[in-house]
Amino acid sequence: MKSKPVLLYFADEQESAARIALAGHLNLGKIQSHRFPDGEIKLRLPESLSAQVVILRTLNNPNEKLIELLLAAQTARDLGARNLTLVAPYLSYMRQDVAFHPGEAISQRIVGRFLAGLFNAVITVDPHLHRVATLQEAVPVANAIMLSGAPLLADLIAAQRQNPLLLGPDEESAQWVAQAAARHGFDHAVCRKVRHGDRAVEVTLPDVALSGRQVVLLDDVASTGHTVAQAARLLLTAGAASVDVAVTHALFAGDALQVMQEAGIREVWSTDCINHPSNAVSMAKTIAAALTLVQPAA
Ligand code: R5P
Repeated sequence: MKSKPVLLYFADEQESAARIALAGHLNLGKIQSHRFPDGEIKLRLPESLSAQVVILRTLNNPNEKLIELLLAAQTARDLGARNLTLVAPYLSYMRQDVAFHPGEAISQRIVGRFLAGLFNAVITVDPHLHRVATLQEAVPVANAIMLSGAPLLADLIAAQRQNPLLLGPDEESAQWVAQAAARHGFDHAVCRKVRHGDRAVEVTLPDVALSGRQVVLLDDVASTGHTVAQAARLLLTAGAASVDVAVTHALFAGDALQVMQEAGIREVWSTDCINHPSNAVSMAKTIAAALTLVQPAA
């Protein structure tokens, strides 16, 4: 009989790990972490690992977590892991996919290759792929699985709002908006966006009737919140009855929630890819189902 895969997790993702392990009938193993006074990290993994190992690490605030993954993945190999999967519900560094100016690092390619060198498989949710078509182009690993939060967010929106208008705040969001709208027959459209800086965006609304509509802005991620805030201000000025926000990844840097609230946004919903009080749907069952494809005993 094959042994069950073990799902290794860090303390700050214990709840998320427990949900995935329950859904996928996986064993759980905690990675203990110690930070030395100089900032270095020491990890300790469970001593006896099966050959099938999954490491859960969502990659918001990614810089230290990438070092953790380097240490954890290589230690797991030393301890006998042969089939090693990364579950990164949020996969960072995907937005910088070209050098916009000479000399810029193409972070997507560099981080993608780094992860591909450590793992046999990578599972993620709604990675921000714009100019590449498949996750495997960004993370050239044997099994690269891309899941989406859009269907579950669509179900939530259908339960919360009557006849909503689903809007993407920019053209890149069209993929998620179309998918969510198709599931429930929602009206949908996308805005156009020009970014002038980290917190400065110019949004143009689509040419659709907005008066009295309950609008839900759907996107893969909100970071500073300025994109959805600017869209919400324009929508309310144009006569929308309400504006809510649904995102897969609640990055919400700094005062993002306040920025969104001050723009008149009513509710903010997110998936549990990043742990946040706005989490309204769980990706655990979807992730567990994907794991059976790459960890056959799962
Ligand atoms: C990029 O196009 C993403 O889909 C989001 O629209 C963007 O990251 C949001 O950033 P912020 O919340 O900082 O405006």
